[in-house]
Amino acid sequence: MDFQAPSLHTLFGISPRDKYVNDFLCEEATWEEVFVELGDEKKMEGLLVIGFANPDIGEIKKILAKDRKWHMQAISQLLVLKKKLQDEGFDFLIMDSAPGVHYSSINTVVASDTTILVAKMDNFDFDGTIALLDDLLAPLNKPTFILFNKVVEMLLTDQQRAVDIAKSIFQDKSEIIGFVPCYCSVPLGMGSEILALTKPDMPFVRELNEISKILAR
Ligand SMILES: Nc1ncnc2c1ncn2[C@@H]1O[C@H](COP(=O)(O)OP(=O)(O)OP(=O)(O)O)[C@@H](O)[C@H]1O
Ligand SMILES: [Mg+2]
Repeated sequence: MDFQAPSLHTLFGISPRDKYVNDFLCEEATWEEVFVELGDEKKMEGLLVIGFANPDIGEIKKILAKDRKWHMQAISQLLVLKKKLQDEGFDFLIMDSAPGVHYSSINTVVASDTTILVAKMDNFDFDGTIALLDDLLAPLNKPTFILFNKVVEMLLTDQQRAVDIAKSIFQDKSEIIGFVPCYCSVPLGMGSEILALTKPDMPFVRELNEISKILAR
């Protein structure tokens, strides 16, 4: 659902495809045409079925120019998709949105049961995250978690300080699900390595595993 700056195709090493999530939302493709199973190729235990956003610059411009009416239709498509995947027996549907409050991000939040806001521990992110919580998420009244990522070492040596800062700003607006440190080793994968598969023992991966267990409850 990040149509502004798609990056998942790079991470998964996907060559150009015929159909993207863009086409599904435009009702020009079925979900079966858009989604691809990658769990087998990646030697995973379960199925991992992914729909990619179109990285073509022309397509990015096209979707960014869509009006409110189009996005109203797109949310119906998203809800149809969610129901279809549920009926097919999928366990989880994870939607990765673009930052900010563009229509497509709002649609993503509206269509989901639980929202995770990934934020950095700096004042820029605090302001944006609070605005999202107050204006969009609070009226929807759905479970919302905040995950602090790329937290600097200094704040983590004193975990309580990080928790206190976050709590003083966010009060009880949502539950803080974790603090993930900034690891210099993460970019070593050059954006084309799925660390959970290639380096499962990395502390970064282990921390995300713990967080996923909380979410799966
Ligand atoms: N905890 C971390 N430590 C170090 N690097 C990280 C960490 N988390 C993410 N990164 C790196 O930061 C970059 C951006 O990560 P990612 O694409 O997940 O962020 P994003 O918030 O989704 O960005 P965008 O808003 O552009 O979609 C990537 O190169 C990623 O490897
Ligand atoms: Mg992203």
